[in-house]
Amino acid sequence: MQDRLKKLIEAARSEISTASDAAKVEELRIRYLGKKGELSAILSGMGKLPPDQRRELGEAANSAKAEIEQLLMEAIERAELQKLQAELRGPKVDVTLPGRFQPPGRRHPVSRTLEEIVRTFRRLGFEVATGPEIELDYFNFEALNLPKDHPARDMQDTFYVDAPWVAPEQGSDENGVLLRTHTSPVQIRTMLSRRPPVRIVAPGRVYRRDSDLSHTPMFHQVEGLLVDRGVTMAELKGTLDAWAKAFFGSETKTRFRPSYFPFTEPSADLHITCFSCGGAGCRLCKMGGWIEAIGAGMVHPKVFEAVGYDPKQYTGFAFGMGVDRIALLKYRIEDLRLMFENDVRFLEQF
Ligand code: PHE
Repeated sequence: MQDRLKKLIEAARSEISTASDAAKVEELRIRYLGKKGELSAILSGMGKLPPDQRRELGEAANSAKAEIEQLLMEAIERAELQKLQAELRGPKVDVTLPGRFQPPGRRHPVSRTLEEIVRTFRRLGFEVATGPEIELDYFNFEALNLPKDHPARDMQDTFYVDAPWVAPEQGSDENGVLLRTHTSPVQIRTMLSRRPPVRIVAPGRVYRRDSDLSHTPMFHQVEGLLVDRGVTMAELKGTLDAWAKAFFGSETKTRFRPSYFPFTEPSADLHITCFSCGGAGCRLCKMGGWIEAIGAGMVHPKVFEAVGYDPKQYTGFAFGMGVDRIALLKYRIEDLRLMFENDVRFLEQF
């Protein structure tokens, strides 16, 4: 019996020492210490022995059991350690890899240009005003001295809107609802809501039925309006010249060319020296050296009458500029439509 125990311990020692995973260790535990295991088999034969031998064998069996348990515990620890080391050696997560790149969002070139234009006018003392993009014909045309049959309406091919929900409080019933074709209706809304002096810029979206290399159905304008006593054309020129120098650079020069708008008289187009070639002539300015940038003029007395300002007391100037066109020139983009296709490969470049 004692021999059998000794052999059992030796066999257990060598087998357990080679067990390399937890499942194998458990299998060995059952084989040696389980109910149907070898130690149980030895102990079950103990009843036939004389009492003194029985006690001796019992003690030996207990210490054998304790030793095997100890071996099994060590084997489990070893197996777990090996598993851990294997995981560390063959890493599933490579902590040295660079993180996944999340491309940052950025301001659209048109938004940036718009904000910059507005910022330079604020520095000159203008405040920002806004108006709706769905506008009454009255504000967009009629009050701006553009009655129904006026030929100048053709300058702005209009999107009309079926909008029975809009109550045309101003103007007559036959005046429709439309997508504003310019930001000039904000002039009317602003003057109706306050008394002079007025000094505002109105940035926003406008809509026309156009689509080609240099026209999109939606584009952006910044409107300007200044009304007070004794405002002259010299102030208009001085203001826009100061703005152009602040926006395009101090070496910029400006010039006026006669123009026509029904809501200003006299009217002018402001040209600025090409900021690419400085006036020498290049592809950007089509060799002319000048770029037509802003429509402007002195507020027409009829417009003052429409908003209840006395044209004998007050004079003022107004101007409107196309933001997208300025953005095109500034970023040297050839096709305006690229601005609104929202192709990330294009937008990423700014
Ligand atoms: N509203 C005109 C346009 O869209 C621009 C303009 C505004 C001209 C104000 C004169 C005064 O073309």
